[in-house]
Amino acid sequence: MTVPDEARLDPLAGISLRERRGASAERAPFYLPAGDEISIFEQAHRHQLAVMLKGPTGCGKTRFVEHMAARLARPLVLISCHDDLAASDLVGRYLIRNDGTVWQDGPLTRAVRSGAICYLDEVVEARQDTVVVIHSLTDHRRTLAIDKTGESIEAAAGFQLVVSYNPGYQRMLKDLKPSTRQRFIAIDFDFPSAEREARIVGHESGADGATVHALVALAARLRGLQDRGLAEVPSTRLLIAAARLIAGGIAPRSACYNAIVSPLSDDPTLLAAMRDLVDASFV
Ligand SMILES: Nc1ncnc2c1ncn2[C@@H]1O[C@H](COP(=O)(O)OP(=O)(O)O)[C@@H](O)[C@H]1O
Ligand SMILES: [Mg+2]
Repeated sequence: MTVPDEARLDPLAGISLRERRGASAERAPFYLPAGDEISIFEQAHRHQLAVMLKGPTGCGKTRFVEHMAARLARPLVLISCHDDLAASDLVGRYLIRNDGTVWQDGPLTRAVRSGAICYLDEVVEARQDTVVVIHSLTDHRRTLAIDKTGESIEAAAGFQLVVSYNPGYQRMLKDLKPSTRQRFIAIDFDFPSAEREARIVGHESGADGATVHALVALAARLRGLQDRGLAEVPSTRLLIAAARLIAGGIAPRSACYNAIVSPLSDDPTLLAAMRDLVDASFV
């Protein structure tokens, strides 16, 4: 069963933001746990601890947060970070209108006021001076200072900060500052085991068992190409895309070329190696 999803774009900040309200545990989006991450997150939420989700792209971090927000019946505010993201994009800004100047809260401020779970996706992409605005929210103060209005807002009960971070993308300059890192508890994510991945791909795509198992086995072989220079290996997300195409009637090899092989590389040698593995998996 899917949770009603209100997705919209904040025209002001260009931040994609999604809020869910009033969902219950039964209606939470499907999430297959790897270990004790659900109870760790529940305890972190209860004790008002900020959480950092570490792991490669497409391995379930966003789905986990969506699931937890629904389980905990908290609204979710989702912010995709990028290197142009300014503090005012998070906190808010004055808008000039013909009837005067009005203050408009940014998504972080709205989350703080409403007691939402605020998820900063790919937080390392944001500039350091932007990341600093979250510091006072992650310690005992639990306040957000809005310099421009002079306001200091105490976070409503239930407010929780969650960030995601891909250590594989770690670059010296873009690494998180130690003073920021130490404000979070961390939960590690990785690609699921073959058995778990098959359950996830099957659930998300509706493809038959044989197709799902062939895709998961193919993924393991493709992930082995990392040593041969494949920078981005296929995530569970790409397998689901291929499985959906196959379930919709596309020939398996074509589905894999289009949904897995081509998105991952432009390098002719790697593309040929990946196509060979596809051809061997789907005869
Ligand atoms: N443990 C899991 N349980 C359920 N679905 C998962 C899981 N891991 C991955 N998925 C599926 O893979 C897709 C991509 O995961 P996502 O959460 O968007 O990755 P990330 O945020 O880590 O980049 C999800 O939309 C979901 O369909
Ligand atoms: Mg994500």
